[in-house]
Amino acid sequence: MTITNGHANGHANGHANGNGHASIATLRKTYEDAGQSHVFSFWDKLNAGEQESLATQLASIDVARVNRIYRNAMAAEAPPTADGLAPPLVGKDISRSPSPAPEEAGPLPEEAVASSSSPDAARWRDVGLRAVADGTVAVLLLAGGQGSRLGSPNPKGMYDLGLPSSNSLFAYQAGRIRKLQALAAAHAGKDPKDVRLRWYVMTSGPTRPVTEAYFAEMKYFGLDPNDVVFFEQGVLPALSNDGKLLLAGPGKVFTAPDGNGGLYAALRRPVNANTDMTVLSDLHARGIKYIHAYCVDNCLVKVADPVFVGCCIERDAQCGAKVVRKTIPTESVGVIAKRGEAYGVIEYSELPAAKAEQRDAKGDLAFWAANIANHFYTTDFLDTVEAMERKMVFHIARKKIPHVDIATGEQLNPKEPNGMKLEMFIFDVFPFVPALSVLEVDRAEEFSGLKNAPGSKSDSPETSRRDLLAQQRRWVLAAGATIADGVEVEVTPDVTYGGEGLEFVAGNNFVRSGAIGRPEDVAALV
Ligand code: UD1
Repeated sequence: MTITNGHANGHANGHANGNGHASIATLRKTYEDAGQSHVFSFWDKLNAGEQESLATQLASIDVARVNRIYRNAMAAEAPPTADGLAPPLVGKDISRSPSPAPEEAGPLPEEAVASSSSPDAARWRDVGLRAVADGTVAVLLLAGGQGSRLGSPNPKGMYDLGLPSSNSLFAYQAGRIRKLQALAAAHAGKDPKDVRLRWYVMTSGPTRPVTEAYFAEMKYFGLDPNDVVFFEQGVLPALSNDGKLLLAGPGKVFTAPDGNGGLYAALRRPVNANTDMTVLSDLHARGIKYIHAYCVDNCLVKVADPVFVGCCIERDAQCGAKVVRKTIPTESVGVIAKRGEAYGVIEYSELPAAKAEQRDAKGDLAFWAANIANHFYTTDFLDTVEAMERKMVFHIARKKIPHVDIATGEQLNPKEPNGMKLEMFIFDVFPFVPALSVLEVDRAEEFSGLKNAPGSKSDSPETSRRDLLAQQRRWVLAAGATIADGVEVEVTPDVTYGGEGLEFVAGNNFVRSGAIGRPEDVAALV
């Protein structure tokens, strides 16, 4: 095909074949039509390799979709019009999410919430364990975040909390998977080898290589490597405040992960370049019906919790979420609230202060139901998410984004936010669900987030370590042992999933700190 890209630059013409030129012409046209042709500003100054890499990146971006996401997000952010109505959305393919603005949300009615302390929990656990034993449950880990608040160079799951066992968060989660497989097998009278939980690990460009290398180095923590599936969320271009793509360099668009809601699109893409297999196709191929998804940074997470899974199955839920009581108005947790006819999460960054402070008749926080990012889905539900995505409003995070000035070519490092990253949140699908199944659980048993740098007052490595060891201390005492003051006894998931099976510690007085990964380990600590 002939080149029609409109500049007589010998160097641009000198390296690409006819198809390459044709596709560059098409690319230029696509970006011009989208009002984003400035991404070619430095094209003539790039060498052949740089041109190729920019063209590849531009071809991978659906720029019309990016524009649509921008317009939709801006329209949703705009203040109501004079007549009190939400501003109109613009452009074709845009329709409003069923979720009204946070200002219009109401508290989650207590009666809509089940409790893990109810007498029904034993029955739910039985249903959940049987589903695990039948091979119909999988676990999905969100590990695409870069943990910038924590300030660790590695993915959060590798973080060493300084436990006696030296186990990382990933090691704890893997251990709980192993233990739950054994518990479910025993419950159903099956051979432990025949009960397997598939573990889908969502990474991102920055976290994938190091996460995969770490799992390999740790020999998959004793799991069968074939049961662990890595996949990767997508990215979106960062935009200036008026919606223009920002360039990280003369030949590179600035991109950032598309938020943990990027999960849904990622489920539909091949898990790596060597296969057609997607997470969705794999779920179907294996007859997996139920998925427990969770965040990497909660050291207390009950991976594939049979109580939660059983509760959702029994309620015939398509989608579910666990909550705990929010502690203070400023706690950095999303809250589940009533949004129109459905329930949805309002993220902490979007909850109006007046609502955060609002109290009910008893003096408790009205918006009390803190989302701990433990979600349940049926595979059938995940199949339907693609249709919802067009109606979802992405969230705007205003950031300082280093970029190249288009006019001067100068590299700028802004001191004030100069643009935005656009993200979808994993819970943005909830308002599309007729009856979200909400389960309230005990914070001390199930939630302690690792968010902030060492030394921070809350959600730090120290508070994670403290909460995990405090839980295990309660379990050991409940099993009939005593522990001397100042002694820390860790019981790893090798011996217990949720406090069960610790009869072997009864009657002992622990006088030395250490980890128990086998009953034989007790002797050295008493
Ligand atoms: C999240 C929840 C919040 C909840 C809190 C509880 C979201 C959007 N918010 O907030 O409602 O109260 O946990 O601890 O879920 N991640 C990705 N890709 C990304 C960004 C994040 O996979 O692009 C993963 C992280 O690895 C992590 C999880 O998503 O496992 C949550 O990450 P983060 O963005 O830090 O959410 P929080 O602000 O902690």
